Amino acid sequence: MSAEQARFEGRVAFVTGTGRPNGIGWATARLLGQEGAFVAAGVRANTDAKKVEGWLTEEGLNGIGVEIDLTDLNGYASIKAKSEARLTRIEEAAGAPVSDLVHIAGVTHDDVAIRMTEEDWTEIDTVKNKGPFFLTVAALRGLRKAKPGNVVSVSSLAALYGHAGQSNYVATNAAMIGWTKSLALEYEGKGVNFNVVAPGLVDTDMTRGKLTAEQWQTLLEMMPDKKALQPEDIASAIAEVLISNKTGQVVVVDGGLSEALSKK
Ligand SMILES: NC(=O)c1ccc[n+]([C@@H]2O[C@H](COP(=O)([O-])OP(=O)(O)OC[C@H]3O[C@@H](n4cnc5c(N)ncnc54)[C@H](OP(=O)(O)O)[C@@H]3O)[C@@H](O)[C@H]2O)c1
Repeated sequence: MSAEQARFEGRVAFVTGTGRPNGIGWATARLLGQEGAFVAAGVRANTDAKKVEGWLTEEGLNGIGVEIDLTDLNGYASIKAKSEARLTRIEEAAGAPVSDLVHIAGVTHDDVAIRMTEEDWTEIDTVKNKGPFFLTVAALRGLRKAKPGNVVSVSSLAALYGHAGQSNYVATNAAMIGWTKSLALEYEGKGVNFNVVAPGLVDTDMTRGKLTAEQWQTLLEMMPDKKALQPEDIASAIAEVLISNKTGQVVVVDGGLSEALSKK
C-alpha cells in the first residue's frame, strides 16, 4: 500500500447502503478499505451482511458487514437502541469507535405529486433523515474521540434544483443538507466535521434500473460529455471530503449537469 493509498490507516469507517456491487455505497466502502480504513459495511438485510463481508474478504480488506435497516418506524427509542448496538459491535470488532460515518443508503418512490402516497414519502424520509440523524447522534461520543471525526451525508443534486416526479426524494434530500449543515455549526471547533456530497447522474441500479431509456437519454444529453458518472467518481469525492478537515460544505459532484440545469 503506498502512502497515498494509506490515507485512512487507523480510521474506522461506517458506510451505509453498501449492499449493491454497482452502487455508490460499495464503491465508497471498498475505496476507504483500500486506503487503510477498517470498514463497517452497512446493509439493509441481515442476509446481506455476510455477502458484503465476503466482498471485503475477496478484496483483502479489513472490516465487517453490519445490518442496519434505517426504515425504523417504531420511533426514536428503537432507532437509538439499534444504532447504539451496531456502533458497539463495530467498536468491538475494530478496536476503536467509528471515526468516519458516511450516510449513503437511499431509496426512491417516484410519482407526480397528485398520486404521491404517505408511504412513498415516509420511507424515503426515514432512510435519509430520521435514521441517519439519530445514528449520527449515537455516534458522536466516538466521533469526538477521532480528532477529527467526520460525517458525510450523500444527498443529491436534485435537492438543489428540484426534479419533476420526485418531490418526496427532493424534499428529503434537501432536509438531509439542512440537518448536516446545522450539526456542522453545533460542532464547529469541537472536533467533528459534517459535510454533504451531492451527486448528479450516476450509473447505478437507482437510476439506470428505474429510468426509461428516453429519460436516461434526456439526462445524458445534458451532460457535457454525454456520460453518466460512475460510483467510483462519487467514492473518490467522498474520500477527499473526509480528509479535507473542512466542515459545513456541500460538495456537488455532477460532471457539469448543474450548468445545463441552471440554464433551463
Ligand atoms: N445514482 C444517482 O444518480 C444518485 C444521484 C444523486 C444521489 N444519489 C444518492 O446516492 C445514494 C446511493 O445511491 P445509489 O445510486 O448507489 O443507489 P442504490 O444502488 O440503489 O443503493 C442504495 C442503497 O441503499 C440501501 N437502502 C435502501 N433502503 C435502506 C434502508 N431502509 N436501510 C438501509 N439501507 C437501505 C439499498 O439497500 P438494498 O440493496 O437492500 O436495496 C442500497 O444498497 C442514495 O442515497 C441516493 O439518493 C444517487
